[in-house]
Amino acid sequence: MTCSEKINNLDGRELIREQAFGNIWSNEINDVFADVAGYYDRVNRVASLGLINWFRRSFISIIDVEPQQKVLDVCAGTNAVGIALLKKQPSLKVHAVDRSEEMQHVGQEQAKALGFNIDSTITDVHTLPFPDNHFDIVTIQFASRHLKLIPLIKEVKRVLKPGGHFYHSDMLRPSNRLVEKAYFAYLTGCVSVVAWAFKSNKYAKGCKKYFVDALRMFYSPEEMTQLLYDQGFVKVSSKSLLGGVVGAHKAVSAAE
Ligand SMILES: C[S@@+](CC[C@H](N)C(=O)[O-])C[C@H]1O[C@@H](n2cnc3c(N)ncnc32)[C@H](O)[C@@H]1O
Repeated sequence: MTCSEKINNLDGRELIREQAFGNIWSNEINDVFADVAGYYDRVNRVASLGLINWFRRSFISIIDVEPQQKVLDVCAGTNAVGIALLKKQPSLKVHAVDRSEEMQHVGQEQAKALGFNIDSTITDVHTLPFPDNHFDIVTIQFASRHLKLIPLIKEVKRVLKPGGHFYHSDMLRPSNRLVEKAYFAYLTGCVSVVAWAFKSNKYAKGCKKYFVDALRMFYSPEEMTQLLYDQGFVKVSSKSLLGGVVGAHKAVSAAE
């Protein structure tokens, strides 16, 4: 298979992403988030030019919740998703999973300050330490471009109850070439300015190029839909913001 065939083939793209970024994912990303944890929410506001709350509201608005449901928030970071869901339905049982103790520490403090309980497990999410058919809802926002996506989606499907819902949102690769060009030009400048302004450590500074390259090789909204169908999800629907710069997908786990 040639390189361009691999890029068009979704399994091939996963291989290329892993070859390009596997080392960064295993060895550097955790140090980046350890540094960023204390200013993560502020940096998001600055880098998104204040649009982060719109991205979040838009994601939360597609998540249907019912009392007492069990929710797993994967790569929960500072618990923005879990907290927003608990505001929507306080009787949810929310479990956060993330590899970064520092991000979860901030997230736990933020949840407690609002009187919410979010259970927390610190682990690599490529293996989810939960039984099969356990959760009604699994969410992930702004993290999947740092992960091996196919193994992650298989794990999500395993821990979801049949008929359970998976909600995915991330910065995606816009399908429109013009939007893509403008977006990557903005990101390249923005990542440098933000790293300088927030006095990021050497790990975050060293990953400046990675943050843009990871998106260049990531999925468009249409490809993300296809990936979810390929992994056995059904009724996949999506919503794109800013021409596909940010996407949100909803998918149902079909019974085997
Ligand atoms: C950009 S933050 C997103 C946090 C949160 N979901 C949000 O929407 O703000 C990415 C998170 O993914 C976590 N992460 C990255 N790779 C991971 C891995 N392999 N296993 C567990 N967590 C991981 C990082 O620690 C970080 O908290």
